[in-house]
Amino acid sequence: MKTYLQLNTSLHGAQARVAAESDALIAELRSADVVVIGLPMYNFGVPSTLKTYFDHVARAGETFRYTANGPEGLLQGKRACVIATRGGRYAGTARDLQSAFVRQFLGFIGITDVEFVYAEGLAMGEEARVAALAEAGKRIEQLAA
Ligand SMILES: Cc1cc2nc3c(=O)[nH]c(=O)nc-3n(C[C@H](O)[C@H](O)[C@H](O)COP(=O)(O)O)c2cc1C
Repeated sequence: MKTYLQLNTSLHGAQARVAAESDALIAELRSADVVVIGLPMYNFGVPSTLKTYFDHVARAGETFRYTANGPEGLLQGKRACVIATRGGRYAGTARDLQSAFVRQFLGFIGITDVEFVYAEGLAMGEEARVAALAEAGKRIEQLAA
């Protein structure tokens, strides 16, 4: 009995599926007043899952557009809260490339009211971990009040 390999070389089906997923994520994002992002640091950057999410929601004409004056974010009037957790300590230093990237991306799609809450030093001993989580918890409570 012969086995057959069928190659579908048309990208249309795959593109339509990816576009539908992107549409759904943009609709969800558009309907939110406040966006809360849990952000562990992985190898000095954002998790690849968050990068993929950003790639899905950055759509010309939907979440940003280019004008004669440059790019304009279309998701305005929202707030974002980024809860950044790290094994080490980076906040406020030039080594914190992650925060700059996330702020840059959110601003690009129009979300400029962004608050970062850091829980750092989580891998620097139990005492440091407990203190950092307690501090971050307090800050989150303040923001939610
Ligand atoms: C694959 C991987 C890469 C990591 N890279 C870093 C890093 O570059 N810098 C850092 O401070 N912490 C790093 N960490 C630690 C995580 O940021 C930390 O585990 C995360 O914020 C969640 O905290 P938790 O493990 O206590 O839940 C990494 C963790 C993993 C699993």
